[in-house]
Amino acid sequence: MSAAAAPGKIILCGEHAVVYGRPAIAVPVSQVEARAIVVDSNGGLIIDAPDRGIASRLADLPADDPLAAIVNLTLAKVGRAADSLSAVVAIQSTIPIAGGLGSGAAVSTAIARALASYCGRELGASEISALVFEVEKLHHGTPSGIDNTVIAFGRPVYFVRGPHPPPRPDGHPSPLSSDGERGEGQGARGEVTTFAVPVPFRLVIADTGIASPTKMTVADVRQAREAEPQKYEALFDRCGEIARRARALIESGEPSSLGELLTANHWALREMGVSSPELDRLVDAALDSGALGAKLSGGGRGGNMIALITAETEERVGECLLKAGAKRLITTTVG
Ligand code: PMV
Repeated sequence: MSAAAAPGKIILCGEHAVVYGRPAIAVPVSQVEARAIVVDSNGGLIIDAPDRGIASRLADLPADDPLAAIVNLTLAKVGRAADSLSAVVAIQSTIPIAGGLGSGAAVSTAIARALASYCGRELGASEISALVFEVEKLHHGTPSGIDNTVIAFGRPVYFVRGPHPPPRPDGHPSPLSSDGERGEGQGARGEVTTFAVPVPFRLVIADTGIASPTKMTVADVRQAREAEPQKYEALFDRCGEIARRARALIESGEPSSLGELLTANHWALREMGVSSPELDRLVDAALDSGALGAKLSGGGRGGNMIALITAETEERVGECLLKAGAKRLITTTVG
């Protein structure tokens, strides 16, 4: 038997702009997680994912099913043929789907780790991240790579999408992305820095309860940027600068000064067209009740928002978020 878990994640700042080469910061959220367990069986390779209504032989799933894809990619990586294994890969997750908490990447990460270990191989964080990135393309279309990175590393990351796609899991270099030097298109290796958080800080994550596929908001931003390149490049620059300054504040032990940056990031995302009345209402409620800063997080239009809180404001901000329509709250400490 072999088991592995992977945390959820939240983007602190820089979403959307990160797709266009600007830095972003993401942090793991350990209050929610995906778990995979691989146990011996005698009926071939079975995938059991009750949350997705799947209890099926690997061979019966379409190759582009995300669960089948990560199993196949992992087996290719460790050099095992699917038909040489007789095992059940069971998956469970407490991470809400399509809410910006990285559910797809966490499920893939847990499976890759558990299955590789079942096959006698321990894969490193960057190896796992590269496999999961391939599957993220099925979920997101043109992901930046930030979700697989923060979840596979399980630590706060400062991520800059690289100009080149990662090597293919079979070891051959991938074709270069077709769409400009910032690497938009096929995918990107990215430059990852994990960094110190000398003074921990607390975030409340509030769920609008509205499922919003990231693929759609990313596609809308792409279209809008094609129509108004100058406006969007300036917005992306603003978000990149926010991420750089946020990292400096966190590293220098001044996370309480992050609030203004987070709120400024929300305004930039609003101008990008990815906020919604529900998200704006939650951001206003958090700020009015004493949060140091607040913003939507992730793809936008639904999903989650975050607010920077302190021990003194935590209860009040939480109550006000629920009154303003939040369907669920998660409070997490970064660092
Ligand atoms: O919705 P999420 O949290 O998975 O975030 C996606 C972040 C984007 O920048 C919008 C897309 C990406 O691939 O980086």
